[in-house]
Amino acid sequence: MAEASEFLEARNLVRSFGGVRAVDSVSFSVAEGELRGLIGPNGAGKSTLFHLISGHFLPDAGSLTFDGIHVEHKSPAARAKMGISITFQAVHLFNGMTVLENAMVGGHTWTKHEWIEASFRLPRCRREEQSVTEQAMSALEMVGLDRYKDHLAEALPLGKQRALQIARALCSKPKLLLLDEPASGLRGDERQDLASLLEKLHESALTMILIEHDVDFVTQAAGKITVLDQGQVIAEGTPAEIRDDPAVISAYLGTAVSHEAS
Ligand SMILES: Nc1ncnc2c1ncn2[C@@H]1O[C@H](COP(=O)(O)OP(=O)(O)OP(=O)(O)O)[C@@H](O)[C@H]1O
Ligand SMILES: [Mg+2]
Repeated sequence: MAEASEFLEARNLVRSFGGVRAVDSVSFSVAEGELRGLIGPNGAGKSTLFHLISGHFLPDAGSLTFDGIHVEHKSPAARAKMGISITFQAVHLFNGMTVLENAMVGGHTWTKHEWIEASFRLPRCRREEQSVTEQAMSALEMVGLDRYKDHLAEALPLGKQRALQIARALCSKPKLLLLDEPASGLRGDERQDLASLLEKLHESALTMILIEHDVDFVTQAAGKITVLDQGQVIAEGTPAEIRDDPAVISAYLGTAVSHEAS
């Protein structure tokens, strides 16, 4: 096990798209068990940074260690197996599949059976299906969706679809959960439910990074916040420190978030 301060450690990560340095020499670290907020104006590079951590993008330069192991060139599947899980900014669910089936998709990261065993339903495959079902059910209970398990995922309202994305991620038995704007588009009561869920997950010692535009929301959830602007870390600290930071205020000037931050 790595030192707590090095659970996730990025050093000078760079990722460009054409002439745009979406992530421009980003260094930061997250301790085990921490719930870190990640904020910044539109186009600041937050989602790109998440994709560099999950492996959906590879960096042009820089290093990333997770639990003491270099992962910057590993595939998303390899990182998922190590415990890095992401919920994307846009809702990605499988239509035509139930809530339980959608949650179970997360289990493929830790099952061992091959498709050939699955097609003949060999014993190891059946045992694993049973444990994936149990893991998915406990994830659904955690997010409050267990009673909707047989509903079609696409029939759920947005707040519950986002909760289902989190349940699917939980079914992968994550050690680090990356949440890309899980509160976006949610109603007040749905946001409250999400805040309670994040608190519960934090109490269970799961390490999380939360991207969020609503500064009030992230301030309540996270102990420490990292601020990105134009691909660079411009500030890091407690919510109170961030709110008073002149670089943060100036990055947000003229954006909707500045009203929420005031
Ligand atoms: N796949 C891509 N191809 C080309 N450019 C991209 C791609 N992904 C991101 N970018 C660019 O990189 C920059 C950072 O984008 P990113 O999506 O990481 O920002 P963000 O902070 O997540 O923004 P938002 O708050 O709007 O979600 C932007 O200029 C964006 O246009
Ligand atoms: Mg984004």
